[in-house]
Amino acid sequence: MLLEALNFAATYLISPRKRAGEINSSVTLWARARRCSKDWAQHEANSKAFILQAIDTLPQRRVAVVLGSGLLRDVPIEALSKRFREVRLYDLQHLASVRAWTAMRGLRNLSFENRDLSGYRAGAGPLAFLQSVPDIDLVISANLLSQIGVGISRLVKSEPGLPEDSVARLIEAHIDGLSALAARTCLITDVSYEVIDRSGKVLERDDLMHGVTLPAHQLEWQWPVAPLGELDPNYRAVHRVMATMPAQASPARPLP
Ligand SMILES: C[S@@+](CC[C@H](N)C(=O)[O-])C[C@H]1O[C@@H](n2cnc3c(N)ncnc32)[C@H](O)[C@@H]1O
Repeated sequence: MLLEALNFAATYLISPRKRAGEINSSVTLWARARRCSKDWAQHEANSKAFILQAIDTLPQRRVAVVLGSGLLRDVPIEALSKRFREVRLYDLQHLASVRAWTAMRGLRNLSFENRDLSGYRAGAGPLAFLQSVPDIDLVISANLLSQIGVGISRLVKSEPGLPEDSVARLIEAHIDGLSALAARTCLITDVSYEVIDRSGKVLERDDLMHGVTLPAHQLEWQWPVAPLGELDPNYRAVHRVMATMPAQASPARPLP
């Protein structure tokens, strides 16, 4: 609890985006990730391995972009830092603890940008801002897309007048935004979840993509997001994750 309070306070102090609710969500995620580290290890290893494969397909490695970089747990940040000239990290919030960890590791070519990637109230598409970033060779959407859906679903419930299909449209806009980029892209997201009791009976299941179909995926796995005891002693929540490298808009040309 004390560590969480310190992380919250330090992040609030240094964050250019002073939104206590967002910082609190990131701190809560950080604390849960620490509690569930054994259960999450395979999911994190799968995500990292998929991204490493994407890196290996690239003819050149100038700028890498991570969308939903958050805690940097499911991206191979040291390999990205070593193999790219620059790594740009985008999330609503970056915790002070995460920034300190990267500084201690000497990862000097990272830049942290606080940004709402949902596209909600954005004039252009949610990822249009990347069109003006030069030399991008790799864009990773790192377990972010379902969370955009969760955030917008909350808004739809609280803001009268927001169309019901806003969530699906923004999820679609993220996928379209990735395919419009002239860079290798890598989309990793949980797409659905099940709540399961001790006897194995499924009590609840839902589609986190709100009916939107993802491009054909190369890999999928289960992520035990909330093992028994995390949310309730009698049930657990398991998410299904898909990883895909959608076709590239027009490949970046290798340097002469
Ligand atoms: C499941 S976490 C993934 C974290 C990260 N990839 C990692 O390696 O630890 C989802 C992340 O998405 C971020 N997020 C959720 N909604 C967002 C939005 N609208 N814009 C930007 N980031 C968002 C959260 O802050 C969180 O860090």
